[in-house]
Amino acid sequence: MRPVILDIDPGVDDALALLMAVHSPELEIIGLTTTSGNMPLDQTTENALKVLELVGRTDIPVCMGAARPLVGEARHAYEVHGAEGLGAAELPDPEAMPAGDAIDFLIEGIEARLGEVIVVATGPLTNLAMAEAKRPGILSQCRRLVIMGGVLHEPGNISPHTEFNFHADPHAARQVINSGANIALIPLEAARQLWLDQDLLEARLAGRTDALARFCAAATQTVMAFETQLYGRRGMHLHDPLAVGLSIFPALCEVKPMFIDVEPEGQLTSGQLVVDRRPFVIDDHLVGRQVECAVKVNVPGFLELFLDRLLQ
Ligand code: RIB
Ligand code: CA
Repeated sequence: MRPVILDIDPGVDDALALLMAVHSPELEIIGLTTTSGNMPLDQTTENALKVLELVGRTDIPVCMGAARPLVGEARHAYEVHGAEGLGAAELPDPEAMPAGDAIDFLIEGIEARLGEVIVVATGPLTNLAMAEAKRPGILSQCRRLVIMGGVLHEPGNISPHTEFNFHADPHAARQVINSGANIALIPLEAARQLWLDQDLLEARLAGRTDALARFCAAATQTVMAFETQLYGRRGMHLHDPLAVGLSIFPALCEVKPMFIDVEPEGQLTSGQLVVDRRPFVIDDHLVGRQVECAVKVNVPGFLELFLDRLLQ
């Protein structure tokens, strides 16, 4: 089993990714760290606690992290994930409480198992940046960081050239990308290859009346309505579940080494990925750090894994 820490901002696709991870025997979930992102920190934390209680996994600690980005104010995505971040799903208030500080949890969890821990980050990278600032070099002590974020050349989803997680905290994204850690990056170009058709989900849920099935049907409603309007077909992309999938079966994605950095301050471009594609450099160095960037997804393979694990 691979020890993992999920750094999340649930949010519907984070919740689906969490359920997939909980149902994957290959992963030993050491804990969850929550951050502001899709929802304010209190809500992302409550949602993480609620989803763990839904599947009877209150043994997994949930630690609260950053309530705002390193610089500037927090922004959220109510229009995508619904008023409380889990679409139309209504889960009981959690009985469990947060277990502590996310930054210390990340540092202690990684230090306890040097070179073993995979951190799957599917929200703004504020917690990871703060952990690196508090204990320089800690991210490089991970086995791998699997990060959902950024957009290479396609249109962004929060501004013309930026993706939500990197736009929400561009300084943190830049610090994590430049930390020297072993990074697998899932940009929008990869996440957008994964489309969960509403008919397929409904077919897999048909006849099921259990709480998990009811949650999945209700939670996906808001995102599917939003993306159906945006893309003209019934369904949704699976950004964050792909990050969990990649931590289980790396072969699900064809990856390509790329030198990337993140623009932290541009008035129109803060959070934009800067990819250094120069075939040669003169008198300077390639910009940014090398990451393994997901470029092609085994879509049928992933969808089968996702639905099998989600709806176990
Ligand atoms: O841009 C998509 C990403 O931003 C996903 O992780 C989604 O949950 C939001 O956090
Ligand atoms: Ca997310």
